[in-house]
Amino acid sequence: MTTDPLDLLELAARAAREAAAYVRAERPSGRVEVAATKSSDTDPVTRIDRGAERVVVDRLLAERPDDGVLGEEGGVREGTSGVRWVIDPIDGTVNFVYGIERYAVSVAAELDGVVVAGAVVDVVHGTAWLAARGHGAVRERGDVRETLRLPEPPPLASALVGTGFSYDADRRARQGAAVARLLPQVRDVRRIGAASLDLCSVADGTLDAYVEEGLQPWDHAAAGLVVTEAGGALGGHDGRPGERLVTAVHPALEQEFSAVVRACGF
Ligand code: IPD
Ligand code: CA
Repeated sequence: MTTDPLDLLELAARAAREAAAYVRAERPSGRVEVAATKSSDTDPVTRIDRGAERVVVDRLLAERPDDGVLGEEGGVREGTSGVRWVIDPIDGTVNFVYGIERYAVSVAAELDGVVVAGAVVDVVHGTAWLAARGHGAVRERGDVRETLRLPEPPPLASALVGTGFSYDADRRARQGAAVARLLPQVRDVRRIGAASLDLCSVADGTLDAYVEEGLQPWDHAAAGLVVTEAGGALGGHDGRPGERLVTAVHPALEQEFSAVVRACGF
């Protein structure tokens, strides 16, 4: 079975678009009922998150039955092929519940533990950010397909920085304090509510930088590859993105941004 990143991307994009269509079709008007909470009382899951994960996993395993799976809503499966799919069926679930039109399906393929393909599909607007390792990143909006390249960055003091907050109250208090220290040193801060869309925004130049603590692999696997394939620098606590820290920025600002976020207490 193929492990070519372009083939894996084609399937990731197809599965993500199918799930996005399911989420669009299933979402009632008004507020969506929360089925349960997860890591804390503020961390919701809906019937539609679970259904969307099923749509993605069914599509992937129908075509590649030997692959492994790591899905946010519990889809964990050991594979034998060396390929593992990392899935967030709805990134931005709180936005989804309230009807704030910023949530996405995120599907990444890892080969021997390295992300080689990633697709993030904005459910409401249909925009897709797609990347395959070594083949660059694109944004597709309707019939328009654009190759992504991070624009030249402004000085850090004029940078628009995306961030987010964990569902854990203690961690959130620390994050709030760190953001308060960051705010006077940059143009402004945005908390959009979907980490995958924040990262894709760095890749397409609608944010200058991004920093967040407490992300899980499904939040950043696909969009992190979009950032690096668009020429961005993806970092973390020990230089690698992880639960402790994820950063994304133009390489020319990387050292300075990383020093500032550490000094702020991220
Ligand atoms: C969350 C979103 C949010 C980020 C949280 C994530 P979910 O994912 O990406 O922007 O701040 O850290 O957990 O729960 O909506 O899939
Ligand atoms: Ca989610």
